Amino acid sequence: MRKAIFYAGFLSILATQSVFAVDPAERHEALLGTANDELLADEELKSYQGQKKTVAVHKVDPHAGVYSKSQFPSATQCATCHKEIFDEWKISSHAYASISPMFHKFENIINVLTSGSIQNFCMRCHASAGVTMNEDRVKPMWERPQVSREGITCITCHRINEEFGKVNGERRINPGDIHSPIFGTQDDQILTKVISNKDFYKVASNKNETGMKIHAKAIEFKTLGKSEFCMGCHQVAVYPGIKLEVVWDQYRTSPAHKKGTTCQECHMGKVPGMAGGYRTGPTAVLNGKPINPGRTRHNHVFYGPGYPYSHPGIFPYNPRAQKFKMQDWLKFNYRANWGKKDFESRVQRGLIDPKFPKEWDDLDDRIDARKVVNQNLKDWKRKEHYRHQIIENSADVDGPYFTSDLEAGEDLDFHFVVRNKNPGHNLPSGSLGAQPQLWLNVVVLDPSGKRIWESGHTDSVGDVLDLHSVDVQQGKAKHDDQLFNLQSRFLVTNVKGTDREFYLPVNFDIDQLPHIRQGNAPNTLLNHPAFVRMEQHSLPPLGERKAKYSVPSELMTKPGKYKVAVRFRSRPEPIYFMKFVGATNDMIRTVNEWIGDSHKKAVVIEIKKP
Ligand code: HEC
Ligand code: HEC
Ligand code: HEC
Ligand code: HEC
Ligand code: HEC
Repeated sequence: MRKAIFYAGFLSILATQSVFAVDPAERHEALLGTANDELLADEELKSYQGQKKTVAVHKVDPHAGVYSKSQFPSATQCATCHKEIFDEWKISSHAYASISPMFHKFENIINVLTSGSIQNFCMRCHASAGVTMNEDRVKPMWERPQVSREGITCITCHRINEEFGKVNGERRINPGDIHSPIFGTQDDQILTKVISNKDFYKVASNKNETGMKIHAKAIEFKTLGKSEFCMGCHQVAVYPGIKLEVVWDQYRTSPAHKKGTTCQECHMGKVPGMAGGYRTGPTAVLNGKPINPGRTRHNHVFYGPGYPYSHPGIFPYNPRAQKFKMQDWLKFNYRANWGKKDFESRVQRGLIDPKFPKEWDDLDDRIDARKVVNQNLKDWKRKEHYRHQIIENSADVDGPYFTSDLEAGEDLDFHFVVRNKNPGHNLPSGSLGAQPQLWLNVVVLDPSGKRIWESGHTDSVGDVLDLHSVDVQQGKAKHDDQLFNLQSRFLVTNVKGTDREFYLPVNFDIDQLPHIRQGNAPNTLLNHPAFVRMEQHSLPPLGERKAKYSVPSELMTKPGKYKVAVRFRSRPEPIYFMKFVGATNDMIRTVNEWIGDSHKKAVVIEIKKP
């Protein structure tokens, strides 16, 4: 049989709505609207309660007292003047880093697996202010000051004047209240002018003055504008030597680095994920007076494919949410219609009698809480908008290219070419098994509209159908042999010989108390424990790979018009891993609801009679 290569030998391009089961946008409406499920409270509460196992708290730094007394200013204080930057930052993954319930679940499990030996390692990057204040790791989130819940907050980057290199987030934030100097890439001419016009701008540059509290100085620190600044946190080596994040490794040898393009240009510029220059505008607005409107502005959303899946009452920061305690928020069932007009009027009229926990017995409280949730979900959508753009900008999905004859009774062979458009690092970057999943979902519909074949679909909990899928393991679903998935993996050594895949770089151990075992060769030579390695499946900068598919002939019996549809899907965690660390059902559900779909298209092909 003659094999011909067709470039997208299709008749027309369709809207994809009719092909994929539920459009994610509709699911968000459901989230904002009516769906009601289990309460999340108790289980999720636990995840914020600090570590389950009490770990040896490291020796107390003699300066601990000084640090904890000198208040570190929260981002909300900076917001007085830098409101626009604050609004960008507050929906960023940086702002989410320490409130992320997945972070806590994951940290907990790794602490259990390593018998507590990991100490504050994870917190260094995820809650830098808290670590600098020497906070007890066992303390629950709600006993920590706002600034340490803020994760990678303003002062994490703007109260730093040392180059830390690849030190895994062990940074020292200069202590001091709001008046202490901050570090930027420019000198303080403008700031000095503002401070010398105190009466006009109504600012206070020390404790004894009245007015809006301002930093008395801005000191030049050029490293802030360079990629090296990001490296300390974006290159992660875990004891005893495995690399969890390898963005820096990839960037260092990339075409972008050669050209001098920085992380900041792609992640803080005008175009999400591309070096498209910066916009200009005032960075500070004091009492309605914009300062220095021609200044270069760096977008503090830090564009990326991640998204929050915490309770929308506690992230992003919302001053109106402060009326309620964090613990109470976790009992507020935002998926039910609590606080909505129709629902509440039915409650008042006795038509329904939902059981509210005592914290939410009061109608006015529920109404106030609903307003916060609505506002915060709107903010999530703002983040989603950028996320969508960066994923669209990161890749090309070309095709389908058909390589078989389009005839009934024949296998239908085709492929897509997936290309990493990013010259800066891999797609996705090196986060390992634990992290980003990017895969293709491809569907073929027969002339009657029946879904006859699919790859990249998900099982009953939302996992793709590889060996991790519970449905595949239990024989309830077929393994997806043709799955195209860019997720990287950890391989560890089995009890005896041979590699096996495991979610964490911890050697598989039949001991009752597994722990990270030392390899039998010095780690300094291998840079990782013996037998543990990382298998990357990601695309190198500007690299491409074919996603090949073959629909078996027995499914292609009828001639007529078939549809082939594709979408590129992205989420920060696979479900099996979330389950492994003990994520709640609500976290899992939210991750599934907000999966990012991009590069959607559907084509029609004519399958001829043989
Ligand atoms: C050196 C800094 C650093 C350290 C230490 C670190 N992380 Fe991270 N973590 C990061 C960065 C950077 C990302 C973002 C990666 C991305 O988006 O590709 C991240 C992302 C994550 C995420 C996914 C985002 C989310 O909140 O759901 C989780 C979970 C996480 N880290 C858990 C941990 C745990 C657990 C530890 C300790 C074992 C740890 N991290 C240690 C820097 C660090
Ligand atoms: C009362 C107003 C006010 C508050 C509060 C405030 N700033 Fe500023 N900030 C300014 C002004 C005015 C400038 C000068 C703007 C310019 O140079 O265009 C400035 C400049 C900066 C710069 C740029 C420095 C440079 O030279 O590159 C940074 C960074 C900065 N602020 C961070 C912060 C942080 C972090 C906080 C909170 C800890 C904060 N600011 C709180 C008013 C304020
Ligand atoms: C992850 C690090 C990081 C965090 C967190 C961060 N910034 Fe920045 N900020 C930067 C970088 C990088 C620049 C750009 C430096 C350059 O090249 O000029 C910048 C620039 C600025 C500027 C100068 C104006 C501009 O847009 O370039 C101000 C003001 C500022 N930041 C304030 C804040 C405030 C307020 C917060 C918290 C709400 C904050 N930053 C959080 C890294 C950070
Ligand atoms: C103090 C540590 C720290 C520094 C410094 C830092 N980051 Fe991050 N960054 C993180 C962590 C931790 C996460 C993941 C947070 C989470 O999702 O829980 C992250 C996430 C991100 C993401 C993923 C966003 C998303 O939504 O998917 C991007 C992009 C990013 N950082 C860029 C930068 C750039 C650019 C710089 C330098 C200007 C920088 N970061 C500096 C710790 C840091
Ligand atoms: C030429 C543009 C470009 C440069 C330079 C660049 N990035 Fe990215 N980055 C992207 C794009 C596009 C994505 C989205 C696709 C993806 O997930 O890889 C991304 C995603 C990310 C992510 C989150 C998801 C992932 O892939 O793990 C992190 C974290 C990140 N970049 C950090 C950095 C850091 C740190 C630097 C500098 C060392 C950097 N980037 C340099 C374009 C760039």
